[in-house]
Amino acid sequence: MSAIRIAPSILSADFARLGEEVRAIDEAGADWIHIDVMDGHFVPNLTIGPAVVKALRPHTAKPFDVHLMITPADPLLAAFAEAGADTLSVHPEAGPHLHRTLQTIKQLGKRAGVVLNPATPLDVVDHVMDMVDLILVMSVNPGFGGQKFIDSQLAKITELRRRIDASGRSIDLEVDGGVDRDTAPRAIAAGADALVAGTATFTGGPSCYAANIAALRGS
Ligand code: DX5
Ligand code: ZN
Repeated sequence: MSAIRIAPSILSADFARLGEEVRAIDEAGADWIHIDVMDGHFVPNLTIGPAVVKALRPHTAKPFDVHLMITPADPLLAAFAEAGADTLSVHPEAGPHLHRTLQTIKQLGKRAGVVLNPATPLDVVDHVMDMVDLILVMSVNPGFGGQKFIDSQLAKITELRRRIDASGRSIDLEVDGGVDRDTAPRAIAAGADALVAGTATFTGGPSCYAANIAALRGS
């Protein structure tokens, strides 16, 4: 398995100083910058649009891991791609044609991700395994930072790891929600190789980011 990638979620950053915060987590060792896009409709919260992604792009060269919690997603894929997203991840429940949405992301030249909510069966990815670059397992219900890790998702991660390895493809297996120093090792043991962490990254302020990220990585 590849090294563990840490993707701090800027949902827990200081939104008044977002550029500085992105630079700080870059310098603190973040591998990817996780950007939670919420529409107040697919999830009960409202966050970031393409204009903010574009404004953040000059602040780091690290990949932007954009988690789209919006419905429909298709009309905004090009805008997020042009704004500087590297990976665009979508929820299958957000649109009627997951295959077409993933095709569109690939045509835009971006990495394509599928996000599984806690109650979403993993079979939804069976017939798109050949076109996904990342599968994101939600270990909380999406919408807010600071929620508790849902233990039942560990079995899903284990089974997904088996299916990804069987596919022979290089697909990142990312976990998002309630990831901290206690749950990170359990998610990694189950087979995750990328961890999203909002609260666990930003707790304590900028002087703690490097230690927080290192602790999640297990180093
Ligand atoms: C929730 C978001 C997460 C969230 C994680 O809908 O997808 O990325 O920011 O926050 P923590 O790490 O605090 O659970
Ligand atoms: Zn997220």
